[in-house]
Amino acid sequence: MSKNTLTITDNRTDKTYELPITNDTINAMELRQIKVNPEDFGMLSYDPAFKNTASTKSTITYIDGGKGILRYRGYPIEQLAEKGNFLEVAYLLIFGELPNEQQYAEWKHEITHHTFVHENIKNLMEAFRYDSHPMGMFIATVAAMSTFYPEARDIFDEEARLKQIHRLIAKVPTIAAFSYRHTRGLPYVYPDNDLSYTGNFLSMLDRMTQLKYEPNPVLERALDVLFILHADHEQNCGTSAMRVIGSSHTDPYTAMAGAAAALYGPLHGGANEAVLRMLLEIGDLKNVPAFVKGVKNRERLLMGFGHRVYKNYDPRATLVKNIADQVFEVTGKNPLLDIALELERIAREDEFFVERNLYPNVDFYSGIIYQAMRFPVSMFPVLFAIPRTVGWLAQWIEMLEDKEQKIARPRQVYLGSDSRDFVAMNDRK
Ligand code: SDX
Repeated sequence: MSKNTLTITDNRTDKTYELPITNDTINAMELRQIKVNPEDFGMLSYDPAFKNTASTKSTITYIDGGKGILRYRGYPIEQLAEKGNFLEVAYLLIFGELPNEQQYAEWKHEITHHTFVHENIKNLMEAFRYDSHPMGMFIATVAAMSTFYPEARDIFDEEARLKQIHRLIAKVPTIAAFSYRHTRGLPYVYPDNDLSYTGNFLSMLDRMTQLKYEPNPVLERALDVLFILHADHEQNCGTSAMRVIGSSHTDPYTAMAGAAAALYGPLHGGANEAVLRMLLEIGDLKNVPAFVKGVKNRERLLMGFGHRVYKNYDPRATLVKNIADQVFEVTGKNPLLDIALELERIAREDEFFVERNLYPNVDFYSGIIYQAMRFPVSMFPVLFAIPRTVGWLAQWIEMLEDKEQKIARPRQVYLGSDSRDFVAMNDRK
């Protein structure tokens, strides 16, 4: 009868150890019993960038990288994108179930009525240089919000915690829109509570002299679906930052500023901006072969391609591509699409990309849509951070409520100098 255990023989001592297997994993702490001498610290696992390490158990998002599967709380992303709306999916991620009518009405009411930010926050944002990157403004302002809501530190008070969740989900579009208006030298537009979550966001971005902004329904829905697709993605870099920072029991604004800072990187959520700058640099189909040659010579990355988990198509990329057609009906086709499609065609056929499983990820086509919707390229990471706020908060709650979690503190393999005595300045080489 096979046992759910792993037997390890340490050939240094000929000792064998039997470690229990749970959920197809071994608990790394079980390795510590493996020693040569009793006074040894015991064995560690070594996993730079945590490529093969589960940092938590979770019931929020499931990804099968081989099959291109993505589910939020068990619901396939394709169904949520087709049949749901972002606030509904936000409720699902935070509470674990799709809301009934009453739950949805209450949730929508709370989010809608927390969209305003304190006037001091608006004044604080006005201090940024006119040409500040919106993502830098977003991160700094989210962090500053912790100074406005000291009760946010009561992270185990469920009522106080829920209030901060309402505030963050409601206010990130406002902060994002204010950042955008600031970079355009335009007056900030206040929230319009008669509009939907994405309709209000478009209003705060675009309203000029009209008394009532009427969002284009196709763009409003396209943004809503894009927000659904970006809401959560299990233990990615930004979410891991949220969990690690949150594990020290700081408030959610401070933890989320760190998560957004991680997302900003061009290898992560900043990739959508990097993709557009790459496509603009290529500029014309005739330049694609030379660019691809540069990628294959390791001179640069093909931004928007590859993924740590998906080793074939990112299911979100397929859905984003479908939205592109609807958006282009309204905005006109983005000429950069032809360059993007050519890059994808080459990546599907060329051995360099095929053997490395480099397929388009969520960031490859989203930027083309955002540009067609007239978002400046610098806004793209902010457009990722808005919906990902929900995922960060859902994962933060799960971490706080997980009895197995403690403050995150990895170990290391020390390979530096052994003990040595201080040398006076004039005796040094
Ligand atoms: C997101 O984790 C998440 O879930 C993230 C995310 C989310 O929703 O939160 O999905 C969002 O961040 C999507 C990824 C966006 N980033 C990019 O598009 C940037 C370009 N992609 C690469 O930087 C890279 O593919 C990563 C960072 C996405 C994944 O890197 P890995 O898993 O560490 O893979 P790797 O660097 O070990 O690459 C394996 C090989 C290497 O070649 P060899 O040295 O083995 O010969 O593939 C090569 C890499 O050089 N490679 C690329 C490449 N990506 C990997 N070569 C050219 N272009 C690329 N884009």
